[in-house]
Amino acid sequence: MVSRARFLGTGMAVPDRVVTNDDLSGRMETTDEWIRTRTGIEERRWVTEGETGAELALAASRQALAMASLQPSAIDAIVYATSTPDHFAPGNGVFLQRMLGADPIPALDIRTQCSGFIYALSVADAWIRAGSYRTVLVVGAEVQSTGMDVTTRGRNTAVIFADGAGAAVLGPSDDPDRGILAIDLHSDGTHAEKLWVDAPGSMYHPRVSEAQLREGRHFLAMDGKEVFRHAVARMPESVRAALAAAGAAPADLSLLIPHQANLRISEMVQRNLGLDNGQVYNNIQRYGNTTAATIPIALDECVRADRIRPGDLIALTAFGSGFLWGSAAVRW
Ligand code: COA
Repeated sequence: MVSRARFLGTGMAVPDRVVTNDDLSGRMETTDEWIRTRTGIEERRWVTEGETGAELALAASRQALAMASLQPSAIDAIVYATSTPDHFAPGNGVFLQRMLGADPIPALDIRTQCSGFIYALSVADAWIRAGSYRTVLVVGAEVQSTGMDVTTRGRNTAVIFADGAGAAVLGPSDDPDRGILAIDLHSDGTHAEKLWVDAPGSMYHPRVSEAQLREGRHFLAMDGKEVFRHAVARMPESVRAALAAAGAAPADLSLLIPHQANLRISEMVQRNLGLDNGQVYNNIQRYGNTTAATIPIALDECVRADRIRPGDLIALTAFGSGFLWGSAAVRW
């Protein structure tokens, strides 16, 4: 019989360096009040020079493995979601494989930005259900701070995006009712340039030029209003679709973990789905938007704080650059 994939352990890691809203208002024209009221963010973590995304992923992965009581040698595959790899190539999966001292197992990078963890889960879920790989380490990790323009020109993104890593170990469930029940995935590339990093890119000769650097085309650029408008519609739609595929409805949810894009987006998603405050988890106040890492970081906090218990129905949902979006329905 085909086994569902279930979570065996979770972990998270963020840099030690705390960057407050006041720290940012010292570097650009913004205020603590503007950032709090528009985004909900109070502080975020940014790496210090030399600290890498793969190192954050390693720390998160070790915690997830410890919770699962597994050694790195027990992992059969790595799926690593990041839009900010340490290098253009190879992807970060191999650096994590090396740092963990894992066997020469497959290591796949997923580049679907904010939706990265949901897409990564879908790959792990399919591999496990197909019997291709038994124990899969899934990571969402980002270092966004090094791609931020920390002058007034970049203030609409620099105050939002941040660094961190979350990880989960998945394996086959012996209980047919527990595990990942359904996953819903989408894309709409007509909006690709509304949240993107233009350069470096292989379409340019050379891949990045001094002119591009001067124009700031290597920084993350965002049309915030458009992202907002689509996010508040697509996330609830996708949560409903994933739940429907699992034979459930929003009212059945013990907990929804939305991608931490912006507190106002999460609040609108919550209202759209008719959920109360106890049914939705937010931690953007402390970490900002860590792209592919927001969901696994939040998941780990909820698991360790007993906000998620065996048998709970939970949903994970994300929307972001691409546009790409998706949701997962999980019986814990
Ligand atoms: N501090 C102060 N003012 C800022 C600012 C900042 N950090 N960032 C932008 N502004 C200014 C703008 O320059 C603009 O000024 P202007 O009217 O003089 O041109 C004004 O605030 C309004 O900008 P706008 O972009 O229209 O604001 P908004 O109300 O849409 O809020 C966001 C901006 C980014 C908070 C909002 O669009 C948003 O949350 N979007 C979704 C972003 C997101 O979630 N991204 C991640 C998705 S994965």
